[in-house]
Formats: sequence, C-alpha cells, structure tokens
Amino acid sequence: MANMLKDKVVLVTGAGGGIGREMALLAAAEGAKVVVNDLGGAVDGEGAGSATPAQKVCDEIAAAGGKAVPNFGSVSDPGAAEAMVKQAVETFGRIDGVINNAGILRDRIFHRMSHLDWKQVIDVHLNGSFNVARAAANHFKEQKSGAFVHFTSTSGLIGNFGQANYSAAKMGIVGLSRSIALDMAAFGVRSNCISPFAFTRMIGTIPADTPQQVARLGRSKRMTPAKVAPMAVFLLSDAAEGVTSQIFGVRMNEIMLFSANRPVRSVHNSEGWTLEQIAEQAIPAMKPHFIDMKRSPEFFTWDPV
Ligand SMILES: NC(=O)c1ccc[n+]([C@@H]2O[C@H](COP(=O)([O-])OP(=O)(O)OC[C@H]3O[C@@H](n4cnc5c(N)ncnc54)[C@H](O)[C@@H]3O)[C@@H](O)[C@H]2O)c1
Repeated sequence: MANMLKDKVVLVTGAGGGIGREMALLAAAEGAKVVVNDLGGAVDGEGAGSATPAQKVCDEIAAAGGKAVPNFGSVSDPGAAEAMVKQAVETFGRIDGVINNAGILRDRIFHRMSHLDWKQVIDVHLNGSFNVARAAANHFKEQKSGAFVHFTSTSGLIGNFGQANYSAAKMGIVGLSRSIALDMAAFGVRSNCISPFAFTRMIGTIPADTPQQVARLGRSKRMTPAKVAPMAVFLLSDAAEGVTSQIFGVRMNEIMLFSANRPVRSVHNSEGWTLEQIAEQAIPAMKPHFIDMKRSPEFFTWDPV
C-alpha cells in the first residue's frame, strides 16, 4: 500500500457498485477516509433505493482495515449533496477530494425521448455533479486545496446513438470541470474528467443484436471497473499537482489524454461574408476538417486484451 491518500477525506458518489465501488475501495486502501455515497436505485434511476450497496462497500473497507461511512442521498438533490459533504466534515474533520461518479441511463432515440428521460439524466449527471462540487467548493477554497474528479463519456466526446440526454449531460460535465479548474486554480483546487470504459451493469444495458455486437460485448467484459480506479485515485493525490482541466480516457490498460475544442480551420473575408460566398468559399475551405459522424464504438476499432 503506497498510502498516497494518507490523511485525506474523500467523497465518492455512486460508489455502491461498478466503477465507484472500485474507486472507494482503492482510495481507502491508499489511506483515505471515505464517504461512500449511493442511493441504490436501478440503472434507469427508478426504484425506491436501497442502503445495501453503500453499506456493503463500507463493510468491505472496514474488513480490509480502512475507514468509511455510507451515505444514501441522491446527488440530484442539492440538500442531500450538502449533507454528503457535511457528513465527511463532521465524521472525519475535513474534505479533500470529490469523485462525481453517480449516474443513470435512459437511452431513447431522439424523436422518442421524453422530457422525463431528458430531465432525469441531466438531473443526476450534470446537476448532480454541480450540486456535490458546489457543496465542497467553499471548504476547498478555505483550506486552499482540494481535487475534483468528474465522469464524462465518449458518448458525448465522440458520439453515440440514442443518448442525447446522456451525451448532453456528459459534455456539460466537461464544461463544468473546466470552469471549476479555471475559477478555483487560485485556491489550489484542481478539477479533471475521466472518460471510462468498463463492463458494469450500465454497459450491460446496451442492446447487442448482431453476432458481431454480441462478440464485442463479450470481449468488453474483460474491461473490469477496477482498471479505472488507479487514475481517479491518482488525480485526488498530491502527486497530481499541476494536473488540472484535463480529460483522461481509461480503457483497461490504456490511459488517453483527450483533445479539447479549439478552432481547427478559419477563413476570413475582410468585406464580410455573403451567403453565396459562405457556400462557395467558406464551406469548401473548412469541409476537409469537418468532424466525422462516427459513434464511439466505431471510433475505438480494436478491443484491448
Ligand atoms: N462503464 C462505462 O463503460 C462507462 C462509460 C462512460 C461513462 N461512464 C460513467 O461512469 C460512471 C459510473 O458508471 P458505472 O458504469 O460504474 O455504472 P453503475 O450503474 O454500475 O454505477 C452507478 C452508480 O450510481 C448510483 N446512482 C445512480 N443515481 C444516483 C443518485 N442520484 N445519487 C447517488 N447515487 C446514484 C447507482 O446506484 C450506481 O451504484 C457514471 O457516471 C457513468 O456515466 C461509465
């Protein structure tokens, strides 16, 4: 055990299962005291919730000699998010790191997506990430240190079918993370995003219709959520000083740095542009640089072994 989070207090949301559970276990193994949040609902956000998943992870941490307390609140409720941070401070004396990991999926092709599908996914991912980050921000500012790790997705960064709600939320989280990094750098606060690839119950909901899709899903089962945890826990540690405002991909044994949006080509007309000139000059000049229409599974054409 390297003890890279010794004396730190960390809140991991959605840590009752999947990637969140692995990050909570590893953070505790690295010496952190952990608030394990999870409301224990279904993958689509439905159901009354259950205390069991968060409690079980705390029991595992305690059995391994670590320290953790469960929290059963919903990140989509600003008051519950405040209570998570309060619980960390009251139980362990401080808060040093927040991992905004909680998430749900309500996939629907766009023309069938209901307002409820849209709202619930935005509420958990984007509003939830804001709620928890905002609740921790003043503690971080006062102590002049703190680290956020937020979870984005290639569904937003690259693209995917049937996920307008999820893609929008995950791109919103990129903007949120960058804004926090810029606004809070003066107070020694860092903020980064991880775009993970891991076989969890969330990925288990993806339909596989063709034999090729079934085979690919089978291969993706090798991508265990534990592979994502080291990068997230590293980003909370003091060893990550100077690492902020970035988007990292973690795909089994591969770590990627994603590009950010910057102009890739520009055209200028000192007279200003007519519609005809846009059609005849500006678009042809920029067209070779247009973003492609690939979906995330088409972009990542090989599966790690
Ligand atoms: N697994 C992947 O390949 C993948 C890919 C891209 C992004 N992600 C992102 O990684 C994160 C973790 O996903 P996962 O694959 O481990 O999924 P998961 O379904 O296994 O875990 C998500 C957890 O969040 C909890 N949760 C849901 N709503 C909550 C709420 N309102 N408040 C508190 N907890 C709540 C759930 O109970 C669940 O335990 C998510 O943000 C997801 O969008 C995952």
